[in-house]
Amino acid sequence: MVAATSEAAPADLFDKIISLSKRRGFVFPSSEIYGGLSSCWDYGPLGVELKNNVKAAWWRAMTQLRDDVVGLDASILMHPTVWHASGHVENFTDPLVDCRNCKQRFRLDQIPGAEVLEPGEPAPEGFVAGLACPNCGEHQLTSPRQFNLMFKTFMGPVEEDAATVFLRPETCQGIYVNFENVRVTTRRKLPFGVAQIGKAFRNEITPGNFIFRTREFEQMEQQFFCAPAEAEQWFQHWRKVRMEYYLGFGVAADRLRYRQHGKHELAHYAAAAEDIEYLFPFGWKEFEGIHNRTDYDLRRHSQFSGKDLSYFDETTRERYTPYIVETSAGCDRSLFVFLLDAYHEEPDKDETRVVMRFHPLLAPYKAAVLPLSKKPELAALSRSVHGQLRRFFPTDYDETQSIGRRYRRQDEIGTPWCVTVDFESLNDQAVTIRDRDTMLQERVPIPEVAGLLRSRLDALL
Ligand code: GAP
Repeated sequence: MVAATSEAAPADLFDKIISLSKRRGFVFPSSEIYGGLSSCWDYGPLGVELKNNVKAAWWRAMTQLRDDVVGLDASILMHPTVWHASGHVENFTDPLVDCRNCKQRFRLDQIPGAEVLEPGEPAPEGFVAGLACPNCGEHQLTSPRQFNLMFKTFMGPVEEDAATVFLRPETCQGIYVNFENVRVTTRRKLPFGVAQIGKAFRNEITPGNFIFRTREFEQMEQQFFCAPAEAEQWFQHWRKVRMEYYLGFGVAADRLRYRQHGKHELAHYAAAAEDIEYLFPFGWKEFEGIHNRTDYDLRRHSQFSGKDLSYFDETTRERYTPYIVETSAGCDRSLFVFLLDAYHEEPDKDETRVVMRFHPLLAPYKAAVLPLSKKPELAALSRSVHGQLRRFFPTDYDETQSIGRRYRRQDEIGTPWCVTVDFESLNDQAVTIRDRDTMLQERVPIPEVAGLLRSRLDALL
């Protein structure tokens, strides 16, 4: 595989992606007719196809193609003690500062001047007094206080402390509490992994940057249970596998990098952590993390539940609490990476051709059937071609405006192949297939079209 490198991205790429997402139905602001809800987004008709493809690709790579990983779908609401055991009630906090003058709130690390602190490093005494409010410029910021990011709600009709439950801030805890269920029912021996896709919620102090940081999002997480002595080896394995995954989907190699966490930054459970970062229009940022979580999670859940979650290793005749190597990807964030990376502008005659070069397996539509004219004699044959293709993959049908315009519309949503039915098709029972990236056209007999496109998609699996 030859890794793709990037062409220069347009300076206003961020605005262009937001506008294309809205205009073409990838992502809409949530509750827009009521003025929207801060940092909440809805996936439109094309967005939901793209998101389903992102999830399906991850699921296939992480479960179907592996002998050592199985799947799970745990509930969002869990026993409240889970979050005490996990450390989230105590530690899942961000430092919050208020401006006494303008009443705005900020996360400490987002105030100019605070970048001298390492990520996660506590502010020394008097540090905040030297910082100006990013909004009003006054030096009236309060000392940082820790703000817990978990959303709370109540289970049942009575709103009392005893009925408090949390919306999960990460999906993986559902995997830990099911470790024994999965191990016993699948009769697995270590090492093995459990994968899950699902919603997570965080009451972020400063959400933003479109779908990058939101309060409700989806995670695609895999927890690999192994012997303590093998954790480092599996950590190296997974960091490599996960980077290759993105390269395999054509993400530009020079916009991807690893970043190791500094000592202050490590999450309360982690012995080692490395992020996979993408060069977003607002800088290098994480979209997946690989963590060596040690035996922290199972040890704590054993302790808090009173259930023994240790494992007897028949090969070494040892009993130990398994270590966990986690791969934790944001679904929305990796979708954002695929959106940004796919965007290309090309000069074409007097215009600019905007083309979303999605990997065909991720593209919302795989093909579009375009009758050259709206004349009824072409409609029957075109509908029949459409019917043949849509059985196998999502296929658009578009008969309005000029063929050139319709090609542009499909390029802009990343459809890999346009299938044009023309008047000659009535005689030769063949159609023209146009490739999105090369714009080359080939004439193909109608009975062969579905098989040809399927074989092209299969070759990418
Ligand atoms: N279980 C480990 C864990 O949750 P994390 O680094 O906090 O680790 C993993 O989150 C991934 O989840 C991130 O790399 C990111 O892609 C996604 N994520 C986290 N917070 C998010 C947010 N507020 N909005 C969108 N995605 C988020």
